[in-house]
Amino acid sequence: MIRLLKPNLIVETGVGEIGMSSSYILAAMGDNDKGHLYSIDPDKFYEIYGYHVGSGIPGELRVRQTIVRDISQTSLEALFKKIGKIDFFLHDGDHRFKTKLFEYETAYKYLNDRGVIMSDDTWDSAFDLFVQKYKISGYSVKYGINDFFSYAYIHK
Ligand SMILES: C[S@@+](CC[C@H](N)C(=O)[O-])C[C@H]1O[C@@H](n2cnc3c(N)ncnc32)[C@H](O)[C@@H]1O
Repeated sequence: MIRLLKPNLIVETGVGEIGMSSSYILAAMGDNDKGHLYSIDPDKFYEIYGYHVGSGIPGELRVRQTIVRDISQTSLEALFKKIGKIDFFLHDGDHRFKTKLFEYETAYKYLNDRGVIMSDDTWDSAFDLFVQKYKISGYSVKYGINDFFSYAYIHK
């Protein structure tokens, strides 16, 4: 999707231990020769093992990434106010219902026309509630072998 849509500004929540989503997004932006990725993660859970989130992100790809070390609840809106409207949002951080709904709604407020919101782990009703509330017709929800491997996206 990143290679196809060639977004300029991307925000993701949840970098994770390895940073797989970051790496794929950054590689695609590198192919596009365009864009910047802001990744929000409190970077606390792996402290005990002595390393930071995104340990597997190739060094040469990191020039297009800014990691915000905070939880989305306190940093997402402030980030949008700083960087302006975005083209692509990916949720893969705190999967609690309330946090997901908060992130979808906040990202939607700052999403450019023709922008995309994508979410992993759509096992509860947060995504459905979001699309219903905003009367979004262009969306898709996919389920894998179990609900944990589910994702969804909307196209504004
Ligand atoms: C499933 S992992 C992300 C995996 C990553 N997207 C990947 O592809 O490798 C979830 C991450 O969300 C982060 N996280 C937990 N609560 C969060 C919050 N409130 N805001 C942002 N990130 C959060 C955790 O620190 C963890 O690194």
